[in-house]
Amino acid sequence: MNMDKLLIEGGRPLEGEIRISGAKNSTLPILAACLLCKEPMRIGNVPHLQDVTTTIELLRLMGVEVTIDERMSLEVDASSIRRYFAPYDLVKTMRASILVLGPLLSHFGEAEVSLPGGCAIGVRPVNLHLDGLRRMGAEIRVEEGYIRARCSRLRGAPILMDTVSVTGTENLMMAATLADGQTIIDNAAREPEVIDLANCLIHMGARIEGAGTHRIMIEGVPRLHATDHEVLPDRIETGTYLVAAALTRGHVCLRDTRPELVGSVLEKLRESGAEIEPRDNAIEIRMRKRPRAVSVRTAPYPAFPTDMQAQFTALNAIAEGTGTVTETIFENRFMHIHELQRMGADIQLEGNMAIIRGVERLQSAPVIATDLRASASLVLAALVAEGQTLVDRIYHIDRGYECIEEKLLQLGARIRRLPGGPRSSGEWIQPGVVHAVGSAR
Ligand code: UD1
Repeated sequence: MNMDKLLIEGGRPLEGEIRISGAKNSTLPILAACLLCKEPMRIGNVPHLQDVTTTIELLRLMGVEVTIDERMSLEVDASSIRRYFAPYDLVKTMRASILVLGPLLSHFGEAEVSLPGGCAIGVRPVNLHLDGLRRMGAEIRVEEGYIRARCSRLRGAPILMDTVSVTGTENLMMAATLADGQTIIDNAAREPEVIDLANCLIHMGARIEGAGTHRIMIEGVPRLHATDHEVLPDRIETGTYLVAAALTRGHVCLRDTRPELVGSVLEKLRESGAEIEPRDNAIEIRMRKRPRAVSVRTAPYPAFPTDMQAQFTALNAIAEGTGTVTETIFENRFMHIHELQRMGADIQLEGNMAIIRGVERLQSAPVIATDLRASASLVLAALVAEGQTLVDRIYHIDRGYECIEEKLLQLGARIRRLPGGPRSSGEWIQPGVVHAVGSAR
């Protein structure tokens, strides 16, 4: 495992312009959707991330041909597929591997996918995925830690999801594209990534209506064909850099992103005192004074995203006043709090609510990243802490943030990646020095 660390010296306002990458949470289901046809698909604006590498590894293991060009455009050709199998070793590192289940079953009539197992941020079961596929006529057994599924041809069915599930909706929508007859998914997730996947499937010949609403209707077709697709911008990366700018009282422009993807986040940032200028394909943010504390409550899109709550906890930690962060999607998604407290944050946890009293300043401390978004909050806190903060186990960050140190350097932060092992002394990387993009990954 990559044991790199990040060394960050706080105290500089972020200034300048960076480009936002393609969305991880769109790329993963779209790569799985490539299993639904036997022609080469081309996917552009793919972020260079560990989770994408894991998905490519998974597809290749099945015999799918994946070629990558220097601009991170992928060509994915499933015509050479030999096995319909996702092993534990890969699935355990990335829960989203479950997304291959629907497409494999629907296209090839069989699939064997490891159960994802425990996850640092909560139980995260897959019952909704399995119940939906069973409703469509699949025969599913769970044995020896594996989901073993079979069917002749899936049948369209009405499916009411008990809980709003993003990957659950995506898995069932993909499965339904090749089913016999109509599937109606009620209480569907409305996330922009669900819409992006639906648009890609529609270009492949699928008949889908209602993506982006609570009810998605899919009329099965006998086969799908290849298409070219550009992945939409990453709204969580966008939100994270917006908070980074606000927290450091900086002035930043984010290019190649869309303001409408982050409506709830922009609203909260304005409430905290940020000046925000939405553009066609960019967002400019400026914070001239100490941020005001804000209260957020996570809920499915378009409400405030669970993937942004840790970053707002860091913002509140140095804000004026007291703010709360209430998590309603996942249990146990507060592991960053203990680390933020070690940096001097005043946070009290009451059930699923964190009460954060802003302090004048945070101090540096060695901290450990525990999951993807928790680690982002530690990087944000380090950007304003006094002294040098060493963030350990940043492989979590590499799962979801493309070139994070290069992007922060470009905005004037003092940050460097240290290769795994004990802390080494050395020169700071200075902005302007050329680095291999995606190095040390
Ligand atoms: C996706 C995102 C993740 C985000 C999350 C919530 C991807 C690859 N990941 O994860 O970044 O944090 O949405 O916005 O898109 N649940 C069940 N049974 C199931 C499935 C889910 O009870 O079969 C529950 C979960 O435990 C959780 C809730 O539903 O409490 C929402 O989870 P879900 O939307 O499925 O999260 P993911 O799709 O795994």
